[in-house]
Amino acid sequence: MEKTRPLAAVTGASSGIGETFARRLAQDGYDLLLIARRRERLERLAAQLPTTAEVLAADLVQDADLNAVAARLASEPRLELLVNNAGYGTKGHFWEAAGQVEMHKLHVIATAALTRAALAGMAGRRRGAIVNVASVAGFMQNPANVSYCATKMWMNSFSEGLWLEMKNAGLPIRIQSLCPGFTWSEFHDVMGVDRASIPKSWWTTAEFVVQESLRGLEQDRLFVVPGWRYKIIVWLFSWLPRRSQHAIMLKYGARGRKPR
Ligand SMILES: NC(=O)c1ccc[n+]([C@@H]2O[C@H](COP(=O)([O-])OP(=O)(O)OC[C@H]3O[C@@H](n4cnc5c(N)ncnc54)[C@H](OP(=O)(O)O)[C@@H]3O)[C@@H](O)[C@H]2O)c1
Repeated sequence: MEKTRPLAAVTGASSGIGETFARRLAQDGYDLLLIARRRERLERLAAQLPTTAEVLAADLVQDADLNAVAARLASEPRLELLVNNAGYGTKGHFWEAAGQVEMHKLHVIATAALTRAALAGMAGRRRGAIVNVASVAGFMQNPANVSYCATKMWMNSFSEGLWLEMKNAGLPIRIQSLCPGFTWSEFHDVMGVDRASIPKSWWTTAEFVVQESLRGLEQDRLFVVPGWRYKIIVWLFSWLPRRSQHAIMLKYGARGRKPR
């Protein structure tokens, strides 16, 4: 008799890091729930995967869509991995740039709702994992990137709390905050940032980010920061006094991010 395959749910699976997670997890033998707004992109991806992939077209900023996806996760006994990856960045000051409140809904509210829906079942089964795709930006604050840094910082803190809670409850469920730096995807097109403004050596690929995440999951690592440059930056920022962090960000932080 054929063994039942584990199931992974990936939000933001229609491009970039989420799509790469889906491809890699399918190769590793997971069935997939592919979640994002662009149904046709998800359907095209599902047709290319070697395992069974179901498309859940959803705008996770909308309560009805979010509740429907959460209900589906809560009812799925095979769910072994949830990747909260859907996200975007913006350019410009908080009071001027569009999409600020929606960003908090997507990065914070949707992550909390889907994690809660997934974790209840995982806790009962005593197995599973959650990957929250945060960012190097979640270790700092930055003018003209305020909501992004704040919501990714929340994801780091949320993941850390859950990681501790799993240990405290004696549950073997893995929690990870994945913190990439600049990664090739559609992210910078959506944000309207010219990639040429960022030195070539700072870019990583989505394949590398996903590989590091899955390696980190095997080792139960809470924070996964792919790439040595970004590891150094995160380490430095954790040691620098607030005043020095602010001086650096006021000088360099808002480059290329000012409103058009
Ligand atoms: N690329 C980077 O340099 C970088 C660095 C650090 C962290 N990250 C994080 O990595 C994650 C993935 O980004 P990416 O680089 O892969 O960018 P991307 O290629 O633009 O992918 C973003 C994904 O999020 C989905 N999404 C956006 N709004 C959504 C909504 N309201 N409801 C449902 N899905 C939504 C998009 O799908 P639809 O448009 O089809 O809905 C898309 O699949 C994000 O959380 C981002 O903050 C990226």
